[in-house]
Amino acid sequence: MPLPAELIQRKRDGEELGADELTELVLSYTEGTVPDYQMAAFLMAVYFRGLSPAETFALTDAMIRSGETLDLGAALGRKVVDKHSTGGVGDKTSLAVGPIVAACGVPFGKMSGRGLGHTGGTLDKLESIPGYEVELPLARFVAQVRDVGLAIVGQTADLVPADKKLYALRDVTATVDNVSLIAASIMSKKLAGGADAIVLDVKVGDGAFMKTAEDARALAGEMIELGRSAGREVVCLLTDMDQPLGSAVGNALEVHEAVATVRGEGPPDFTELVLDACAHLLALSDLGVDLAGGRARAEAAVADGSAFDAYERWIRAQGGDPDEAALPVAPVVRPVTADLGGYVSSLGAIAIGRAALRLGAGRRTKEDAIDHAVGIRCLAKRGDRVEPGEPWAEVHARDITSARFAVDEVRAAYTVEDERPPERPLLLDVLES
Ligand code: URA
Repeated sequence: MPLPAELIQRKRDGEELGADELTELVLSYTEGTVPDYQMAAFLMAVYFRGLSPAETFALTDAMIRSGETLDLGAALGRKVVDKHSTGGVGDKTSLAVGPIVAACGVPFGKMSGRGLGHTGGTLDKLESIPGYEVELPLARFVAQVRDVGLAIVGQTADLVPADKKLYALRDVTATVDNVSLIAASIMSKKLAGGADAIVLDVKVGDGAFMKTAEDARALAGEMIELGRSAGREVVCLLTDMDQPLGSAVGNALEVHEAVATVRGEGPPDFTELVLDACAHLLALSDLGVDLAGGRARAEAAVADGSAFDAYERWIRAQGGDPDEAALPVAPVVRPVTADLGGYVSSLGAIAIGRAALRLGAGRRTKEDAIDHAVGIRCLAKRGDRVEPGEPWAEVHARDITSARFAVDEVRAAYTVEDERPPERPLLLDVLES
C-alpha cells in the first residue's frame, strides 16, 4: 500500500485514488497509525481537488467499516425509515416528525447529534426536558423503538468512529464545507444506522452549510447516489434556511414549539415542513400509502391527538417529564419592537443563530455548557406586516445585560420595507433516487 504522503501528493495533483487506498487510509487514521497532520493535508487536497463518485462511495464505505453497524430492520422485522437535516437555525423537525410518524404505526429510531456553532443539535434540545436520557445502550434503544415505536438517542461511539475523528479534524482545518466530505459524513452514519429509506432535509441559505441552491442540489445528488449505490431509497427535500425555521430558536423554546406542532398549534411554515417530511417518510415506509395518503395519515394523527399521545409515551420511556411546565424558563424576557411599520423583507438566519449562541443557547467549542432556557422567538417572519411599536421578536435571556445585547442583535437581523416582498416557498425542491 502506498505511504500516506504519496496518497496526499496524488490527490493534491488531481489523481483519482483507488477504493483500497482510501479504505486503508481511513482505517489507519481511525486506528491512529496515520497522524492528524497527514489526514489534515489529505482533507485539504480533497477540498481543492474534490472526489469522484467512486472515491466518495469508497470513502463512505470505509467510514462505515471503521465501526459497528446496526440492522434495525432485522431487529424489528420491519422496513426502517430515517430522516436527517443538514442543519439550520430553529430546526426542531425531528422532535415533531418522530411522534407523528410513530402514531401512524411506523417505527422511528433515530441517532442524533449535538449542535456546534449557530446550528442547534437535536440532542441538546431534548436535554432541556428534565430527566430525558440521550445515552441508551443499543439493546434498550432497539427495544424502545420496538415497544414504544419511537426513540431518539445520541450516536453510539462504535457507529462510524472514523466520522467522529474526521469531523473534529475538519472542524479545525477549514475542510467542513466540501460537498463530497459532507455527503460521506452524513450518509455513512445513516447507512451504518441501518435505514432502508432516508428522507434528507438539505437546507439552503445563509444559516445553512449550503449557501446556494446549486450547492444544495450537488450535495443532494451525491447523497442520493451514495444511497442508490448502497441499495437504499433516498428523498431529498431542499428547504429554505435564509430565515429561521418556525419561530423558536433555543432549546426549551424549540421543544415548546415542536410540542405545539404535534398538537396542531405550530407555526405555519414549520407545520408544513413537518407534515411534508412525515408524508415522505410514510410513503417510503411499509404502510403501503402514497405521498397524499401519507400526508392524510400524518394530518389525522395530529388532529385526533394520537401524535401527542406518542410524544408523551416516548418522553416517559426515555426517562423525561413530558409536562411542558417542567421545561426551564429564562428569567428575563424582553420584546424587540419595530421602530417603523412595513413588511419584513428579510430575517437573517445566521444573525439570529449567532444571537441565540451568544445568549448561551449554543456552544462555541465542544466543551461549552448550554443554557437550555434562553433563546429567541421570532414573532414576525418574512412577508409579515409589522406596525411601529409592535414586537418583532422576544429575547429570553439569563440576565439583563445579555438580553440588551441580544435585543440589538435581533433588531439588526430584521429588514423592513414598504413593499411586501415576493413570496418565497419554504420547500424549494424535492429530489429522489
Ligand atoms: N453534518 C454531518 O453530519 N457531517 C458534515 O460533514 C456536515 C454536517
